[in-house]
Amino acid sequence: MSQKLFEPLTLRGVEFRNRIWVPPMCQYAVEKHDGVATDWHLVHLGSFARGGAGAIIVEATAVSPEGRISAKDLGLWNDEQATALARIVLFVHSQGAAIGIQLAHAGRKASVWPAWNEQGAERRHTSVPLDEGGWETIGPSALAYDGYARPREASLADIEQIEQSFVDASRRAMSAGFDFIEIHAAHGYLLHEFLSPLSNARTDEFGGSLENRARLLLRIVQSVRREIEEDVPLLVRLSATDWLEDGLSIDDTVQIASWLREQGVDLIDVSSGGNAPAPIKVGPGYQVPFAAAVRQRSSIPTAAVGLILDPGQAEQILLTGQADVVLLGREVLRDPNFPLRAARELRYKHAPVPLPYLRAYA
Ligand SMILES: Cc1cc2nc3c(=O)[nH]c(=O)nc-3n(C[C@H](O)[C@H](O)[C@H](O)COP(=O)(O)O)c2cc1C
Repeated sequence: MSQKLFEPLTLRGVEFRNRIWVPPMCQYAVEKHDGVATDWHLVHLGSFARGGAGAIIVEATAVSPEGRISAKDLGLWNDEQATALARIVLFVHSQGAAIGIQLAHAGRKASVWPAWNEQGAERRHTSVPLDEGGWETIGPSALAYDGYARPREASLADIEQIEQSFVDASRRAMSAGFDFIEIHAAHGYLLHEFLSPLSNARTDEFGGSLENRARLLLRIVQSVRREIEEDVPLLVRLSATDWLEDGLSIDDTVQIASWLREQGVDLIDVSSGGNAPAPIKVGPGYQVPFAAAVRQRSSIPTAAVGLILDPGQAEQILLTGQADVVLLGREVLRDPNFPLRAARELRYKHAPVPLPYLRAYA
C-alpha cells in the first residue's frame, strides 16, 4: 500500500515531513489573562511533535486584546507573548515537526467565558458582562451572534487598525521562529463575519457583494504576505458553508479561495459553520467534500478536517486527491502519538519515532 500520509509536502521554502497535521485547538490555558503561553502549551503542542505530526498549528491567537475569544486565550500583540511562543517553536523544531500559528480576531464572538469554564455550564459560550471582566465586541455590523452581546459596528478606522494588528502579529510570529502563518477566517469569528451575509449588513465597500465582503480578508492577506518573507507559507482557514440557505455557500468559498490563491495564499484549511446555529450534518469526514471542491475548483492545495479518525480513512482522503493534508483534532487529543500509530498500521518503515522511544517501536 502506498503511504501518501508520510509523503513529504513542500509549500514555498518549507518541507513538511508528512501530511498528518494538528489543527488549531484553543486550550483556554493562559493563566494570567495576559495572552502569554504557559507550560501547558509547551507540553500540549510538544506532545504532537514528539508523536510524529508533520506540522502543528497553534490555537487561535488573538492579534489584539479585544480579539480574544476569552481572557484565557493566547495573544500576539506584544513581545513577551512572542518570547513565550519561541520556546515552544524551538522544542517542536527539535522533534522535526513544523509549526505555524493561527492568527485570529474573534469579532462579535469575543469576550465569552472559556469553553470549559469551571464555573458551570451557564457560564460557557455566553458573553462575559462588562463588570465581570468582559469587553465591548466589534463586528462588521451591530448584529449579535445567537444569545451573545451585540457588537459595535466597526468603523473604517477600526478596520485599518485590525489590518495593522494582523501585520504586527505576523511580524512577531516570524521573530518567534514560526514556519508558517494561518489566518483564521472561519467559525464565525471576525473575518468570517465579514464574509458571511448572515453577519455583514454593511453598505460601504466592505459589505454587499461577495467581492466587498471578502475585501478585508484579501487586504489582510496582501499586507501579511508583504510583511513575511517570500519563502514563508501563508494559509487561510475558511468555513466553506454556513449550512444555511441565506449564508455563505461552497460556491462563494470556491471564489474566495481563488482570490486568495491569486494573492499568494498557499493552502486553504477547509472547515465549516460557526457563524449561526445550523443543521450541520456531522459524520466521519463530513467536511472532506468541501476540501475536495476547493482543491479542484480553485486549483489550490487544501487541508481536510473534521472527524478524521483512523489511518486508513486519512490515507484514503489523500489517495483520492480530496486534500493535500489531513488535520486531526480531537483524535490527537485522545492519542498524541496518532502519526506513529498510523505508521505502524500502514507498515511505513521510516516513522518519525523519537530516539528515546525506539525500543517501543522495534
Ligand atoms: C478543544 C478544541 C479547540 C478548538 N479550537 C480551535 C481554534 O482555536 N481554531 C480553530 O480554527 N478551530 C478550533 N477547533 C476546531 C478544530 O480545529 C477542528 O477543526 C475540529 O475539532 C474538527 O476536527 P476533529 O473532528 O478532528 O476534531 C477546536 C476544536 C477543539 C476540539
